[in-house]
Amino acid sequence: MITRQIGQSGISVNAIGLGCMGLSEFYGPATETAEAIALLQGAVDAGVNHFDTAQLYGMGANERLLGEAFKDRRDRVVIATKFGPTRDRETGALTGVDGSEDNMRAAIEESLRFLQTDHVDIYYLHRMDQSRPIEETVGAMAKLVAEGKVRALGLSEASAETLKRANAVHPISALQSEYSLFSRDIEDGPLPAVREIGATLVAYSPLGRGFLTGRFTRENRPQNDYRSGAYQPRYGDEAYEANLALVEEVKTIAEALKASPAQVALAWVLGRGEHVVTIPGTTKRSNLDGNLGAAGLTITSAQIARLEGLAARVKGARYPETGMRNINV
Ligand code: ATR
Repeated sequence: MITRQIGQSGISVNAIGLGCMGLSEFYGPATETAEAIALLQGAVDAGVNHFDTAQLYGMGANERLLGEAFKDRRDRVVIATKFGPTRDRETGALTGVDGSEDNMRAAIEESLRFLQTDHVDIYYLHRMDQSRPIEETVGAMAKLVAEGKVRALGLSEASAETLKRANAVHPISALQSEYSLFSRDIEDGPLPAVREIGATLVAYSPLGRGFLTGRFTRENRPQNDYRSGAYQPRYGDEAYEANLALVEEVKTIAEALKASPAQVALAWVLGRGEHVVTIPGTTKRSNLDGNLGAAGLTITSAQIARLEGLAARVKGARYPETGMRNINV
């Protein structure tokens, strides 16, 4: 286990947490409820204490799972959730981002109810609301801290400038952004800003949504989930095979280390420094246990140099054009 701090909030977490989104949607059908709860509770027993969810994931279903799983062990877990993006409750389609105080108040009350708790440990604005100044939203979020409903504040996929402006209103403890061997764009601005303000980067999709684990092949492409449509350009026809070839290089290094590619990908993220923690997503206990093993893995500097050449060669953007408009803003 590696324990790290979430900014200056006083919250410490196992550097390898659990991203819970995939239990409810996006990566195939939702996991059956009892199985999901067993995974979450088993994760606590395995030493995981940082669980990441959002109002968006399953439109409440994901938060409800965490609520059920943790209601009798709340003091052993750090729960992070997020608000902002709005969805059509009928179709699930994303309709925008609402960082207003009214929307935040409705969201936090629903999250607390679904999570069966009186406080959230880390509360994020999930995407920036580009129709209003960040100061307004963070000012509202700061009230939740004062009211004891939230312990620490975070932003997800914010730019360096937004992060610093927000931090001037209230300490921002965490930036949650995609960060992996395949996605290093935040090194150009947001990541240095995280250090500058004394926050922590919570790296999501550290496994490239599964790509970096080596689980996908030419024949075995993700099907019938969010990665197979137009939502994930790196899995699209034009990029898929080129990216598979890059994964081969991760596999080679993993073999030399007698580790799994997933462990190599996670160990690289953790090796970036004390100001970085990560939340790989999994629905399976065996994968969770394997991922936790990354904490003990040491990669040589020559291997790191090889791994660090990969990101520049990845084909396809992190999200389609519409999604990219909400990134690093
Ligand atoms: P996200 O943060 O978006 O959840 P991620 O952590 O980069 O993305 O990757 C999550 C994906 O990697 C999931 O599809 C997960 O599938 P399972 O639920 O089947 O585990 C997959 N994954 C996670 N750990 C894995 C491992 N050790 N081996 C193979 N696949 C793994």
